[in-house]
Amino acid sequence: MRLRVSVLPALLVCFATGMSGERAAARAADREPAKSQAKPVPVNMHDFMEGMFQSPYKRLKAAMAAEPKDNAGWKAIRSDALILAEGGNLLLMRLPDSNVDQWTKYSVDSRDAGAALVKAGKAKDFAKAKEAYHAMLNHCNACHKQFEEGKHILKP
Ligand code: HEC
Repeated sequence: MRLRVSVLPALLVCFATGMSGERAAARAADREPAKSQAKPVPVNMHDFMEGMFQSPYKRLKAAMAAEPKDNAGWKAIRSDALILAEGGNLLLMRLPDSNVDQWTKYSVDSRDAGAALVKAGKAKDFAKAKEAYHAMLNHCNACHKQFEEGKHILKP
């Protein structure tokens, strides 16, 4: 009797996780066609950086100058950090002809630091936000140093 009582919940858990695993796999398969539709909008790298990165960078720089006083200030930081972080993903669709590994690394590092800034913004932790913001700009600049001969070195 005791055995039965302890085995039953375990069986139920296995059944439930098995089901959700299958469902997750089905959902992933559903997403494949959508993924293959992802393609960059045809603009050159200059227009891409100017159009996607410049404005959020400028706004973020102003917003990060002092600790936000209200919810709207934090929301603005999270929004621009998210745009720049997702921009890192988009850079992975615009690989250069050579030095692809470094391009990929800078894009991923800048995306991840941007994600850390979003998280710190959600927690309203200004010390952590500053840390992530500086780290992100270092990754932006690392790419600009290598692929842009040091032009556009961004200041926090
Ligand atoms: C993987 C490489 C790479 C990363 C990462 C990267 N950039 Fe750039 N960025 C470039 C290149 C290449 C250019 C030069 C484009 C051109 O003018 O041809 C550029 C140019 C710029 C410019 C100048 C745009 C203009 O109007 O001339 C700004 C601003 C900029 N990036 C912001 C950022 C910010 C902010 C980040 C980080 C959040 C970032 N970039 C991350 C490659 C990168």
